Amino acid sequence: MVTVVVGAQFGDEGKGKMVDYLAADADLVVRYQGGDNAGHTVINSYGVFKMHLIPCGIFTPGASNLVGTGTVVNPDVLISEIDMLKELGVDVSKLYLSDKAHLILPYHVELDVAIEKASGIGTTKRGIGQAYAYKMLRKNPRAEDLRDLDVLKEYISQAKSAGLANLNYDVPDEKLRYWQERLVPLLVDPVEFVNDYIDSGKHVLFEGQLGVMKDIDLGTYPYVTSSNPVAAYAAVSGGFPVSKITRVAGVAKAFSSDVGDGPFPTEMTDDEAAPLRGDGSQPDDEFGARTGRSRRLGWLDLEVLRYAHKVNGLTELILTKLDKLDGVEQLKVCTSYVKGSSFPIYKMMPGWTESTKGIKDYDKLPANAKAYIELIEKQVGVKVRYIGTGPARDDVVSVSR
Ligand code: GDP
Ligand code: IMO
Ligand code: MG
Repeated sequence: MVTVVVGAQFGDEGKGKMVDYLAADADLVVRYQGGDNAGHTVINSYGVFKMHLIPCGIFTPGASNLVGTGTVVNPDVLISEIDMLKELGVDVSKLYLSDKAHLILPYHVELDVAIEKASGIGTTKRGIGQAYAYKMLRKNPRAEDLRDLDVLKEYISQAKSAGLANLNYDVPDEKLRYWQERLVPLLVDPVEFVNDYIDSGKHVLFEGQLGVMKDIDLGTYPYVTSSNPVAAYAAVSGGFPVSKITRVAGVAKAFSSDVGDGPFPTEMTDDEAAPLRGDGSQPDDEFGARTGRSRRLGWLDLEVLRYAHKVNGLTELILTKLDKLDGVEQLKVCTSYVKGSSFPIYKMMPGWTESTKGIKDYDKLPANAKAYIELIEKQVGVKVRYIGTGPARDDVVSVSR
């Protein structure tokens, strides 16, 4: 079985928490695109984590985890994430790295920072777009080049002579040797690796980064990332036929959030947003898990969810952060836009005063919360399979209706 967990909005929908939850019955979890621009929050018995590169299946005993081909990997970030987990007693012995994943080098980060300074779109300044750009130019080393540092250095020298900017392209030999020592033992041939799992009937779970509205091809260009969060890319990255994807779970927040610039039709006023944002003291407050920036908040946008369904073919929805709407008197749901524009038309719905925090049983949800969920299902045409009622792994309603 192949499951793809995909962001159905603008990122930060709660993919990390849900991958940690769903990994319970997975044999292999694969991060399929993006890099350490991700901040995937996981809260479980090991602690509170903002994961950047390592799949959130790493906390599941017995599961293998692969940083997949379509990702861009900053070696220092990967190594420090491994060390952080090890220190906390998390078993990282079944963590693998695709030998076809591309490397993020210091000059990518430098270039990202320089471009953002000149005319930014609000990137995470992790060199993501720059590593993908050099990949497309075919002047970027892949993880497999750590096996032979002469090959790796040749790529760096080609990047330098491509002369995209006046940057410091030097990466000290000592650093390259350290990356080699730490990361070569994790390398696998990803196509063999992933297909072996799929063809032997194992459950492979693909973890997306960001969400559909930030997809380089299908999102709100240019306010997007430089990879394809959409579900189909899991097959490209995994090197297996698209027809083998059995399940596409779209993760959506019960409202909307967006970090960085770009169109956001249902953006809330500051007064509407304040109670949902928190002050940053809690791990589920609305501040970017990667950059700490205050997230822009908005009402739920069903046009966005219908679009997510159109381009991903969602087989189920996962609605997170329902508990954050507790006590909001009047909920606004964007059911469509004014024709020819992206001006939202809202349906007003009464909220609920009861706490939904930690509820695990659908029947225990307040009637108005159920009405909210049922409206989403009806308007998007996809059933809600799980509902998040708190930030911790087990704060989930598994819906069986
Ligand atoms: P990701 O990038 O999609 O993994 O999402 P992030 O981790 O960046 O952001 C999601 C935020 O919502 C994090 O702060 C999570 O701890 C939190 N979260 C996820 N699901 C729930 C939920 O059901 N309820 C609450 N209260 N918080 C949640
Ligand atoms: P997860 O996986 C939210 C946003 C940035 C910017 C745009 C491009 O945690 O959902 P980039 O650094 O990728 O070139 O920035 O994408 N962005 C994210 N927003 N969550 C993320 O990841 C993000 N990764 C990138 O804010 O608008
Ligand atoms: Mg995030």
